[in-house]
Amino acid sequence: MTQHPLDPLTATELKSVVATLRRDRGLDHRHLMAMVQLEEPAKERVLSWQAGEPVDRAARATVWNRATATVSEAVVTVNGEVLEWKDIPGALSPVLGPEADDALAAAKADPRVIQALAARGIASPDDVHMETWPFGAQIPAGLDDGRRLIWTPMWHRPQPGANVYAHPIGGLRAIVDLDNAEVVAVENEPGIPIPATPAPYRLDETGGGVKLRELSITQPEGASFTVDGSAINWERWRFRIGFCQREGLVIHDVRFDDEGTERRIAHRMSIAELVIPYGDPSPGAYRKNAFDTGEFGLGNYTNSLALGCDCLGEIVYMDAAVVDGDGNVREIPNAICLHEEDFGILWKHTDELGHVEVRRGRRFVASSIVTVNNYEYGYFWYFYQDGSIEFEAKLTGIVLTLAAEPGQEYPSSTEIEPGLLAPYHQHIFCARLDLDVDGTENSVVEVDAVAHPIGPENPHGAAYVTRETPLDVESAAQRLIDPMANRYWKVINPHRTNHVAQPVGYKLVPGHTTYPMAHRESVIGQRAGFMYSHLWVTPNAPDEKYPAGDYPFQAEGGAGLPAWTSANRSLEDTDVVLWYVFGTNHIPRTEDWPVMPVERAGFHLKPVGFFRRSPGIDVAPSAAVHCH
Ligand code: NI
Repeated sequence: MTQHPLDPLTATELKSVVATLRRDRGLDHRHLMAMVQLEEPAKERVLSWQAGEPVDRAARATVWNRATATVSEAVVTVNGEVLEWKDIPGALSPVLGPEADDALAAAKADPRVIQALAARGIASPDDVHMETWPFGAQIPAGLDDGRRLIWTPMWHRPQPGANVYAHPIGGLRAIVDLDNAEVVAVENEPGIPIPATPAPYRLDETGGGVKLRELSITQPEGASFTVDGSAINWERWRFRIGFCQREGLVIHDVRFDDEGTERRIAHRMSIAELVIPYGDPSPGAYRKNAFDTGEFGLGNYTNSLALGCDCLGEIVYMDAAVVDGDGNVREIPNAICLHEEDFGILWKHTDELGHVEVRRGRRFVASSIVTVNNYEYGYFWYFYQDGSIEFEAKLTGIVLTLAAEPGQEYPSSTEIEPGLLAPYHQHIFCARLDLDVDGTENSVVEVDAVAHPIGPENPHGAAYVTRETPLDVESAAQRLIDPMANRYWKVINPHRTNHVAQPVGYKLVPGHTTYPMAHRESVIGQRAGFMYSHLWVTPNAPDEKYPAGDYPFQAEGGAGLPAWTSANRSLEDTDVVLWYVFGTNHIPRTEDWPVMPVERAGFHLKPVGFFRRSPGIDVAPSAAVHCH
């Protein structure tokens, strides 16, 4: 295995980084490790790097000093050198595991909580599941002095293994200061019955009686891809797998072998933020506007995947490692799944003589799944034989629940069992796509299909044209989808033309998405201002990675894309980054209960004038085996 500048930090490297910081900066029990991520070398350095050259491996570490309430960022080499140390004024650390554990222990030991539970017929707080939710910026008056706070929705566990989300404890929440694990308030509105209908989903409860015959995926000659360290080589694709504890799965340095010439398509692609605005105004829901990436570190919650269950076929797993808040390095075995899938017909034609040509298509899948409290998110990157790339988020798990107050109306929730409510909400993702189409200097163009009025330009009324609008500055590049105009955006290389003298490009094609229902002037609208355009384009800047800013925890908003783009920088013939916002509007159904069948949202990247013909045309036919 050869090490590459973009390889994810190994457990050994992470341990070295933590040890270096403790030694050189005198870190002790007051300091928590908020985030440790690969400090990616500059693009030019990565592109000029030759295999076998020494690699300057370094991490960017975010340290939270509980005593002084200060965030500091350090750049630390894996060889024991602190290259940089700076404080970040105004920043607050995301919620860290040890703090969450301490906060929950404090809430469960609080006499007011114990008494309020007893009044609801719950004898022991051990039978209660509590979670730590950030406040966003909606902190109760009197507590808004800059402290880091969480609040704790609660659910009853009537017996071990019960689905707790069937039994929300309405009207009871502890508010805890994260930095000293002190319960600073208990909100208690008695009189709300705990919903009683159980929601079993475990196999020993449901029996799993609906059965089909076995479907086995076998690849008797083995997989068609190779993995060298984090480099993937499949079909004509070459790319690298990255991982960090904030974003989770990252794709680097995507290239395609076009009839013997390796061509660059993307430098770095990730899901840079995920925010879930809740649309129910009741006390148990309106604060639930978590930034799962920026306030928790999505990668921290990565599942260990199981062959035959999460993934089928010839699988290669990659492990990952993260630093927990206390500085311990935790390894996540089988964090990333790499495999191929049959994907139906790639292309087919039966000609006038009856001659048939058909090719089955296959896709390469790089995926990982996280569990954040009640919800699961799968991140799936697909690479296809026609030169296209797809991202698909798979949303599953258990919807968040509230207990209905007798006599209240809940127009923003679905009643899924008597007295059990699932509030309306949206899952809004933001992909950060640093595309490099045949090189770093690119431009972005919006393409609409337009029908002129009936007249000289459209004599029969059925003609239509494409209208291309260059998105030449940041203010012009904040765009919405327009399905009625078949709108897409293409990243072109103005210096490289194809065989018909058109600039080569890749287009971003919207898939299932949504638009925020929260008003812009609402708290969440301010904090997640990036939601209000489906597309943003910025010139690549290494310190512009997260669309709601680096530190969204309790931040009032305005950071990230809205702030950066106010400079209105030029986007012409430069190293552009596309930010694509997509997601789902989740009006829960009774059929989403007790565990939601997978919902999907995502987008495609497709070559447009990049290849001289379909790259799928050279694909060999598959042998007709195992067909009856
Ligand atoms: Ni949902």
